[in-house]
Amino acid sequence: MTRRKEHDMGRLEGRTAMITGAARGQGRSHALTLAAEGASVVAVDLCADLATIPYPLATPEDLAETKRLVESLGVRCHTVQGDVRDTDAIEGAAADAVSRFGSLDIAVANAGVCGFGKFWELDDRSWDEMIGVDLTGVFKTMRAVVRPMLEQGSGRIVATSSMGGRMGNPNLAHYVAAKWGVIGLVKTLSLETASSGITVNAVCPATVDTAMVHNEAFYGLFCPELTAPSKSEVESAYAAMSPMGVPWVSPEEISKSVLYLASDDARFVSGTTIEVSTGASASMP
Ligand SMILES: NC(=O)c1ccc[n+]([C@@H]2O[C@H](COP(=O)([O-])OP(=O)(O)OC[C@H]3O[C@@H](n4cnc5c(N)ncnc54)[C@H](O)[C@@H]3O)[C@@H](O)[C@H]2O)c1
Repeated sequence: MTRRKEHDMGRLEGRTAMITGAARGQGRSHALTLAAEGASVVAVDLCADLATIPYPLATPEDLAETKRLVESLGVRCHTVQGDVRDTDAIEGAAADAVSRFGSLDIAVANAGVCGFGKFWELDDRSWDEMIGVDLTGVFKTMRAVVRPMLEQGSGRIVATSSMGGRMGNPNLAHYVAAKWGVIGLVKTLSLETASSGITVNAVCPATVDTAMVHNEAFYGLFCPELTAPSKSEVESAYAAMSPMGVPWVSPEEISKSVLYLASDDARFVSGTTIEVSTGASASMP
């Protein structure tokens, strides 16, 4: 992406977007995509690892890099190192958006983690951490942002669910439960805000090319027959899960749906999910 010129008018000029999980992966891509359309960005991330998650999460350096990249587009960026499970942190980030940039127009509740284990082997800590981040964290984010949006009488909320929120998935009971739950939150809040100028929707990605799925633990889950495989070696196993035969999509492909839902084009779209499923939607109820 190239730096915006002063006379460039993006589709989100003058608006502020808060994105959780913005230090890397899809969150960073959403931040850059919305920034490229002129939105000021509040980028939130935990920037620390979690005990039951079998791969490293983002670092403070990752979050600083998101800020650098957003600012290089010529828009403002404020970063918050905080946990979406922490009410004070997430409400503080929403308040920062309003006090620093004048409004909070778009929120992307994207932060999430993934672990795995057979249903009967998931311990309480794994369950609690997963539900805490991927469901309660989304609830707290949506609750924090909808309050200023109600005062403004406008807003766009997009939550990141998953194709795991549209089906069962072996070894991912806690993740799947959280992601189905996110869709329940979206549909309920969209009804409660329908007459307030606020839309609420979810994106449901298939496998995305991020650190969440490119790590030793996940390669071991999906390619148990390979020892310490490389990214290119797992490609065909990942592709076999996709009707289109696509192993993974880029984060930018998901950002296109987020941008649409955040834009004026989607003013009458609320309470729905956009499935970027590489064809798996055809098998959903
Ligand atoms: N990668 C995939 O295949 C895939 C598919 C479907 C849905 N998703 C969902 O997409 C979202 C983004 O994931 P990604 O693929 O970019 O992975 P990622 O691991 O690169 O990004 C997730 C980000 O969330 C942050 N985070 C984790 N816990 C947090 C917390 N408690 N508070 C604040 N930030 C926290 C991490 O530090 C990280 O920067 C997640 O909700 C994930 O469940 C991912």
